[in-house]
Amino acid sequence: MAITNSNEQVDDSKLDVTLRPQTFADYIGQEKTKKNLHILIQAAKKRNESIEHVLLYGPAGLGKTTLSHIIAKEMGVGIKITSGPAIERVGDLGSILTNLQDGDVLFIDEIHRLNKLIEEVLYPAMEDYKLDIIVGKGPSARTLQLDLPKFTLIGATTRLGSLSNPLRNRFGAIHRLEFYSPEEIKRIIQRSSKILGVSINEKGSELVASCSRQTPRIANRILKRVRDLAQIQNKDIICDKIAKETLDMLEVDHIGLEPADRIIMETMIQKFDGGPVGIQTIAAATSEEVQTIEDVYEPYLIQIGFLMRTPRGRVVTERGFRHLGYDPNNFTKKV
Ligand SMILES: Nc1ncnc2c1ncn2[C@@H]1O[C@H](COP(=O)(O)OP(=O)(O)OP(=O)(O)O)[C@@H](O)[C@H]1O
Ligand SMILES: [Mg+2]
Repeated sequence: MAITNSNEQVDDSKLDVTLRPQTFADYIGQEKTKKNLHILIQAAKKRNESIEHVLLYGPAGLGKTTLSHIIAKEMGVGIKITSGPAIERVGDLGSILTNLQDGDVLFIDEIHRLNKLIEEVLYPAMEDYKLDIIVGKGPSARTLQLDLPKFTLIGATTRLGSLSNPLRNRFGAIHRLEFYSPEEIKRIIQRSSKILGVSINEKGSELVASCSRQTPRIANRILKRVRDLAQIQNKDIICDKIAKETLDMLEVDHIGLEPADRIIMETMIQKFDGGPVGIQTIAAATSEEVQTIEDVYEPYLIQIGFLMRTPRGRVVTERGFRHLGYDPNNFTKKV
């Protein structure tokens, strides 16, 4: 799997725990969201209440899970973690909800993948802290209503559009996490290298930052690889030379594109005149999955203005053409 894939991968989980910020103060960037959440939390604490349900959305690796942990910590409550696809039966949700304590956070990752039946049980739970359960079968079946603890649901999703309206409407606060500025990513790299016990110079952190797709998870992952190379070469300080060497090995270019990004864009240019072309067609032509293109490659390509989403399909922009070395006015030829 590619280094710049912002989805979580197995060897990330250990690294993620050590590098994961524990407080708002440690959590770099996302100032607007942080400020709003901070107010929400302070006000709820004053009233001695739990906070409203919070929905966090945005591309993978930007810090949704991290932020949810911080919210629970700042509230001084427990957190129970699960995900949309993990809750298979209504009973699963029932047992999670009834085991929560007053004020606890229930974190549901990939909440857009909850099944419909479960979603419907969640509605009264979110609104009135009630759980309706059906006891018995057939004509003698009865509905029992249980009171639930006053929990806070934090939902995370990479796809706000896939969430049903009734579910979305039950969140009191909805926040979109943004891609990070180069400066913020640089600070994250410097913070992470301190935790990892390695030194990195200014130019080194700048270079890694510029190739990290504005995403903390990718920044941390590249940093780890750069550290490995520095260790093998017995270098005490990570400089831009070692960083560059690592990035070349990983085939990541100076703005964070990897071979798969380039294949997607080259295919669009060479086979479809740069678009518009449907996502299904792009997937078929590049042997990638639609979901991978949508969740991993495309958000960053759109963010840096190389790709556009139009009603008729995806289009490579003039910038995209130029980055790949094509003349946008005569794209059959490379310049
Ligand atoms: N604001 C931040 N400051 C410093 N480090 C961060 C920040 N946000 C995220 N990170 C780092 O990036 C890693 C990935 O973040 P996290 O797991 O929270 O992303 P996510 O949005 O939940 O991704 P996914 O959509 O894949 O679940 C964290 O382990 C943490 O080390
Ligand atoms: Mg996550």
